[in-house]
Amino acid sequence: RDGSGRRVFELRAGTGNRRLRPGRPTPTWGFDDGHLGPTLRAARGETVVVNVRNELAEATTVHWHGMHLPAVMDGGPHQPIRPGATWSPTWRLDQPAATLWYHPHPHGRTGRQVYRGMAGLFIVDDPAAGSPDLPGRYGVDDVPVIVQDKNFGDDNRFDESTPLIGGVGILGDTLLVNGTVAPYHDVTAERTRLRLLNASNARTYAFGLSDGRSFALIGTDGGLLPAPHLTDRVRLSPGERAEIVVTMRPDERVVLRSYPPDLGADFWTSRVTGGDDTMDVLELRAAGGLTPSPALPGTLAEAPGLGSAGGRVDRGFELSGFEINGRAMDMGRIDFGVGRDTTEIWEVTNLDVLPHNFHVHGTQFQVLSVNGAAPPPELGGWKDTIYTPREKPVRIAVRFGGHADPDTPYMFHCHLLFHEDLGMMGQFVVT
Ligand code: C2O
Ligand code: CU
Repeated sequence: RDGSGRRVFELRAGTGNRRLRPGRPTPTWGFDDGHLGPTLRAARGETVVVNVRNELAEATTVHWHGMHLPAVMDGGPHQPIRPGATWSPTWRLDQPAATLWYHPHPHGRTGRQVYRGMAGLFIVDDPAAGSPDLPGRYGVDDVPVIVQDKNFGDDNRFDESTPLIGGVGILGDTLLVNGTVAPYHDVTAERTRLRLLNASNARTYAFGLSDGRSFALIGTDGGLLPAPHLTDRVRLSPGERAEIVVTMRPDERVVLRSYPPDLGADFWTSRVTGGDDTMDVLELRAAGGLTPSPALPGTLAEAPGLGSAGGRVDRGFELSGFEINGRAMDMGRIDFGVGRDTTEIWEVTNLDVLPHNFHVHGTQFQVLSVNGAAPPPELGGWKDTIYTPREKPVRIAVRFGGHADPDTPYMFHCHLLFHEDLGMMGQFVVT
């Protein structure tokens, strides 16, 4: 903390060399020690300062994905950090407890920088909300799981080539969790909370457990769900998060796996965009004796209450041809303005054959409907990124509280980074 009680973090963007597989080390990028980045953590009500020093040979930015904050602190393409420079955004945390993350966002180069390893978690705590009885010992029974898929070249370098088929960008054949190949976690408590982040460029996962057992989904992008949702699958497209609680007995082993995700695409498109793939993510190895964990509470958080389905639509977004509403990203064009503290209903429709998702900066939104139907339980909490299956309109209620700035835009975009970098992005201001 500094003299005025602000919580101060230091991040250094730089390069590293990591022994990820047998043989030569892999050149990586990241924060602090050159691959991924430290988990930042602070509580609602605190003011944070992050001193980001760029030691790379090119410009970068650091975007606080999922954070409610002023647009000038957002770390989008309008806040570049030149090589050798330090950027020090500061803001007051004011949102429910959630698993957020940070990653670069330079215009046209986000995919490359994230793929090389630049990403980290930002956990927001909310002590005032009263802490539901959830596993909370970081690294013990509350474990970050940053999932990324990579291709390795012969010399163990990350293979950055974009396949000619598929149209979504890089799909890797090797999964890394927290920067580790073939990872396992030693489970020492009856219940373990996994904070899953899909930090991949293009791949959508459908997480499940290898013996088919169910688990409790307790949180999504913007915080805890109203109640735990018992399920055996959770689908995450790039940028999305989920918090799940897995219950185990002594000496058990079970593998967190990604099963073929339902992409809502046609047979051929699904095949070439990862829809057929099964991949092991993380092995859970239970000890012979496990610390007892309290049962999960029946309710976790207040449900978002911004609006209900069936009302007017204020704004439509059509995703197709690597454009949104027929326009590609232009740093000099603001697409629209939204009034501060005004709830708007947005409808997002994927009119493409390709899979896309939709991410909005600066806030969390409420999902009102998917293809006209009420959202399923896993979309019942605050979200900042949502998968948009083909030709199924998704309605969301969006509200920007607090931070108005007529001159600095926030972004909305597809979070498949190849699409984002091709210009499937737009800008709005809050006034
Ligand atoms: Cu996680 Cu605009 O991005
Ligand atoms: Cu897309």
